[in-house]
Amino acid sequence: MNAHDSERIKGMLEELGLGEAPSADDADVVVFNTCTIREKPDTKLAAYLGEAAARKREDPDRVIAVGGCYAEAQRESIFERYPFVDVAFGPGSIAHLGDWLGAGGSGRRQPAGAIARGRFGLDEREFAARLPMHRERSVQAWVQVSMGCNSKCAYCIVPSVRGREQSRRPGEIVAEVTRLAAQGVREITLLGQNVNSWGRDLLPEIQTGFGELLRACDAIDGIERIRFTSPHPKDFRDPVIAAMAECDAVCEQVHLPLQSGSSRILKAMRRTYSRERYLALVERMRAAIPDLAISTDIIVGFPGETVEDFEQTLEVVAEVGYDSAFTFVYSSRAGTEAAGMPDQVPHDVKIERMERLVELTQSIARARNLARVGRVEQVLVEGASRTDATLLRGRTRRNTTVNFRGTAAPGELVDVLVEGATSTTLRGAETNPSHSLLTMDACAS
Ligand code: 5AD
Ligand code: SF4
Repeated sequence: MNAHDSERIKGMLEELGLGEAPSADDADVVVFNTCTIREKPDTKLAAYLGEAAARKREDPDRVIAVGGCYAEAQRESIFERYPFVDVAFGPGSIAHLGDWLGAGGSGRRQPAGAIARGRFGLDEREFAARLPMHRERSVQAWVQVSMGCNSKCAYCIVPSVRGREQSRRPGEIVAEVTRLAAQGVREITLLGQNVNSWGRDLLPEIQTGFGELLRACDAIDGIERIRFTSPHPKDFRDPVIAAMAECDAVCEQVHLPLQSGSSRILKAMRRTYSRERYLALVERMRAAIPDLAISTDIIVGFPGETVEDFEQTLEVVAEVGYDSAFTFVYSSRAGTEAAGMPDQVPHDVKIERMERLVELTQSIARARNLARVGRVEQVLVEGASRTDATLLRGRTRRNTTVNFRGTAAPGELVDVLVEGATSTTLRGAETNPSHSLLTMDACAS
């Protein structure tokens, strides 16, 4: 969601006539789009802001703007803490950024001194999706379907910085996806904090659900792949599973946050499902969608987590066999329910558990990727490989990155024979590199 918001911020600034600077040193306006889900991004921001402040001392007309969830969480104190910040805005207030920076679209930035210091917050939320967009990737796009979250996960700061859930209307989403398809986008990722509870707040006026939205997007010509993130296991209903199974464009891949494998900890986290319910959901999905890839989010060291609880997480990880996992050390966030809980787990215990978890998730992911060797996978080409410029890079339908020999152009769908694997990537070769065949024909004639 943060990456999607950044694309909208860039789009807004471009409309004001502000292009991307080659480096932060060259920028007249520096915008930080922050995340505050864990403590680490907060710490990083402090370091980046220190550098920006030093540059501003040399050139006081530079404008520093801080947006995103950190700005929202710290709205009462951000200007006191960082007096050199000119503008602060929450994730729902990107639309107003232009008013502050660009003199209403005149194309000329305002010198910092002329900017009334301002901030925008939750009270005036708008969908970032409605703003101009600067897409970083030409054939893939994020599509925001909802904003905010009505869950009350005890560790999570999102509901307090992004507000209550609000769904975009289906017609607006379908219109955006149709426009994207016309621009050459082949793959979309539907985005929401709790993407599969989409549509509930549209009742009774509009009777719909996330499964229907998947079907509507699947029917749009030119969209070859549909993904979505992140669903909440408690809201993963059968119509969504059926839509995944029946829609050609919906990929055989799901990100299904587990958070903990212990029902006791899940209850304390207020996740509202048990280990058994989660596992039953995985079983239903696997039965309906052959070859399904599953990824997850897991938190270690939630307050009160015992070694037995942690071992139950390891058990679920082994039982599900995740294709990939994002693993997080629990980070206390001010104002959340968990921050006030007793029995905070000592840091060294969290780190030791994290190491064990990472070792297990990586070995399972490696084995799952190795099982693809010898198969032919459909790959959407993204560009040159990041590690070896002689190779191409793309993703399989199951969302694994593949580095491969071939001649296809970005945006093409090609078949790749998988020859090798690590825990995170595959490598291989295009099975039918049409361009090289053409070259050979040309030589022969
Ligand atoms: N500490 C650690 N991880 C967290 N997440 C959310 N809040 C916290 C926290 N306070 C993780 C969850 C979520 C992912 C996006 O970030 O696993 O699914
Ligand atoms: Fe946070 Fe839970 Fe909402 Fe996800 S579902 S954004 S973890 S409160």
